[in-house]
Amino acid sequence: MIVGLTYNLKKSNSDVEDWEAEYDSPQTVMAIQSAIEQAGHDTVLLEAVPERIRDFIDCGCDIVFNFAEGLEGRGREAQIPALLSFLGIPYTGSDEVALGIALDKTLTKQLVTANGITTPKFQLATRATKKIKRDLRFPLIIKPNAEGSSKGIRESAVVNTPEQALQLLCELSHVYPGDFLIEEFIEGREVTVGLLGNGDSIEVLPVLETLFPHEDNFYSYRVKKHSDVFLQYDCPAQLDRLTLQKIEKASRTVFSILRLRDVARMDFRIASDGIPYFLEVNPIPGLAPGFSDLPRICEASGISYDSLINRILNTALVRLGLMVPSTVQVT
Ligand SMILES: Nc1ncnc2c1ncn2[C@@H]1O[C@H](COP(=O)(O)OP(=O)(O)O)[C@@H](O)[C@H]1O
Ligand SMILES: [Mg+2]
Repeated sequence: MIVGLTYNLKKSNSDVEDWEAEYDSPQTVMAIQSAIEQAGHDTVLLEAVPERIRDFIDCGCDIVFNFAEGLEGRGREAQIPALLSFLGIPYTGSDEVALGIALDKTLTKQLVTANGITTPKFQLATRATKKIKRDLRFPLIIKPNAEGSSKGIRESAVVNTPEQALQLLCELSHVYPGDFLIEEFIEGREVTVGLLGNGDSIEVLPVLETLFPHEDNFYSYRVKKHSDVFLQYDCPAQLDRLTLQKIEKASRTVFSILRLRDVARMDFRIASDGIPYFLEVNPIPGLAPGFSDLPRICEASGISYDSLINRILNTALVRLGLMVPSTVQVT
């Protein structure tokens, strides 16, 4: 098959350090390309920038492996899928509606809450916000409402008073466009869950726990960037059976509520009473080999990087009726 590969590259041309945090390095693009070619397909590189729009029209692809982050705004992850849908080109992963919702953390929280999923209490804030809702219990964490990869999450993101909260909001709104999410900070363990598949054959991969052995106890941008120094990982996480069941159930429910497809990764914090709080979902999870959580989960589970990439591709091909189910490789 001819498989297009669409992506956004880090170009490091902004003054703000984490501006391109979500974009990928050429090494990641090459790793995905190589995995797809190893499986016997031809690939076409489709950089997701307006100047290259013609490439999409002319690519002649049977399917596009989509991991483009898009350009701007909370609809950015939906931009390329919407274009591909418009052109009638099939693609891996979730559709433009699911991607648009999932990038908006508040919308996602409202939707999952309405379906019985526990998520931290929150307030959507703008640069004009002057009051913190009285029913929110400090400490609170403040993060951009529609970013990823810990972009805009500072070491000082956790605040203890309304004054600190408003001050941080003011500072952040000078740097990051868009709204902010103020959330109750959940002390406790942090886990992330990868899911692969569709319908009855969705597989919840072993849960990855991120351990914070130093004083920083959440994934700020700095902690994420220097994860080798600040973090340790445990996969499968040491969880009791009941907690694991709750997390798996919640993950499957979120996947189904948003009508996600093929692959997703979602983050939870487990409070001291054992309740998993859903934080957010990534329908286009990071795929940097040896760095991103999903490849890390797979590595710990005996699934090679190349198998992960081809599993996403083959799952999409089966969903689209372009491949028979039995040929989806597991490892
Ligand atoms: N309500 C919260 N309670 C505790 N930690 C949080 C909370 N929200 C975010 N965090 C921390 O910040 C990190 C990034 O937040 P997340 O919502 O996953 O955004 P991103 O899209 O940048 O990954 C989380 O992995 C977690 O460590
Ligand atoms: Mg996250």
